[in-house]
Amino acid sequence: MAQIRVLRRMASLLTTPLAPEDFLGLVNPLASKRQLRGVVTRVVPETADSATISFHPGRAWNAHEAGQWARIGVEIDGVRHWRSYSLSAPAGHDPAITVTAIGAVSTALVRETKVGDVLFLAPPQGDFVLPEHPRPLLMLTAGSGLTPVMSMIRTLVPRRPDADVVLVHSARSREEALFHDELLELSDQFPGLRVVHWFTRVEGGRRLDLTDPTDLDAICPDWGERAAYACGPSDFLDAASALWDSTDSEAAASGHLTIERFAPVLLPGTGGQGGLVTFEKSDKEVEVDGDVPLLDAGEECGVVMPSGCRMGICRSCLTPLIAGKVRDLRTGEVHGDEGELIQTCVNAAAGPVHLDI
Ligand SMILES: Cc1cc2nc3c(=O)[nH]c(=O)nc-3n(C[C@H](O)[C@H](O)[C@H](O)COP(=O)(O)OP(=O)(O)OC[C@H]3O[C@@H](n4cnc5c(N)ncnc54)[C@H](O)[C@@H]3O)c2cc1C
Ligand code: FES
Repeated sequence: MAQIRVLRRMASLLTTPLAPEDFLGLVNPLASKRQLRGVVTRVVPETADSATISFHPGRAWNAHEAGQWARIGVEIDGVRHWRSYSLSAPAGHDPAITVTAIGAVSTALVRETKVGDVLFLAPPQGDFVLPEHPRPLLMLTAGSGLTPVMSMIRTLVPRRPDADVVLVHSARSREEALFHDELLELSDQFPGLRVVHWFTRVEGGRRLDLTDPTDLDAICPDWGERAAYACGPSDFLDAASALWDSTDSEAAASGHLTIERFAPVLLPGTGGQGGLVTFEKSDKEVEVDGDVPLLDAGEECGVVMPSGCRMGICRSCLTPLIAGKVRDLRTGEVHGDEGELIQTCVNAAAGPVHLDI
C-alpha cells in the first residue's frame, strides 16, 4: 500500500493539473474515482428490438436490490447522454440492464454495445423493491416493464421455497415477450411461480383490461389480497392504479399496489404559452411550445444538458435560472426566482427564460 501511495504522489507531481486518477482511469476504466464506470461483459439479444447488457462495475458501485434502477451514461458522437434503466439481474450478481430500442440512446445501446465497452454509471437507486417479509405477490407487467420484476423473480423464486408469485405479463406476441422461455422454465421448476402471458397482437388477442376487475378475477381470483407490483406503459399503470383505488372489497383493501414508472406523469393540458429559451453559457437559444421540457429544448439545439431519470425523481438535471418563469408540467404551477435550481426534465418555459448553462 505504501508503495502505491508513493507512486500516486510521484504521479501527482508529474501529471498536475490532472489527478493521477484520470490517468489510472485511462489504463483501467474501473479505477476512476471521479466517475463510476462499468465494463460490458456480455450482450444477449432478447427480442428483435431488445438486448440484455451485463457489466462489471467499478468498486464504488453499491450492490443493487432486486427491482432498483441505475443511471447509465452513453457516449454518442462524443456527447454523453444519461438514461435510467432497471437492473434485470438478480440481487447479489453483477448488474445487467435489458433495453428496448425506442429512441436514440436505447437504440445505440441495443444495436451497438459490444463486450469491453465502457458505460458511465451512477449507483443503483429506487424503492420498487421486494417487501421485507415474504407474502403472496402479484406482478403486473407490460412490455419492457418486466425488467425490474424479472430481477425480483430471479432473486426470490429460486431461493425461497415458500415463494408465492403470480406474474401476469402483457406483450404483443410471444416473439416480443422478454424472457419468455426463461420464465416458463422457472415456473416449471419452481411451484411458487405462476406465469400468465397475455398477448395482445395475436389472433383473438386484446389488451388486458384493467378498467374493471373482470380480467384479473379470471386470471388470479385472490389478486386483491396479494402485494401487487406493476410496471409498464403509463396508461396500463394509470388503469391499475385506478382499479386498486376504486376497489372497495375488504379483500382488495388488504392488498397494496406499488408502481414503477419509466416516464413522468404529466398533467394533461398543462402546457400554456411557451417562449424563447436562452442557454447563456452555451450561447444558444430556441423558441419552444409550453409543453416542451427545457431539457428536450436544450438537447434539441445542441446544449449538453445534465440529465438522469428524465421524470423528475433524480434531480440530476438541476440548472440555475437566470431570469424568466417556468411551468411545472406535473402540476401546472408557474414559478421561477433568479438563481432557483430548475428540474429541466419536468419544467417548460412560461414566457422567455434564461438558463445558466
Ligand atoms: C426508473 C426507470 C427505469 C427504466 N428502465 C428501463 C428498462 O429497464 N428498459 C428500457 O428499455 N427502458 C427503461 N427506462 C426508459 C429509459 O430510461 C429511456 O427513457 C428509454 O430507453 C428511451 O430513451 P431513448 O433515448 O432511446 O429515447 P428518448 O428519445 O429519450 O425517448 C423517447 C420517448 O419514449 C418514452 N419512453 C421511455 N420508456 C418507454 C417505454 N418503455 N416504452 C415506451 N415509451 C417509452 C420517453 O418518455 C420519451 O417520450 C426506464 C426509465 C426509468 C425512469
Ligand atoms: S433528470 Fe432526473 S429529475 Fe430531471
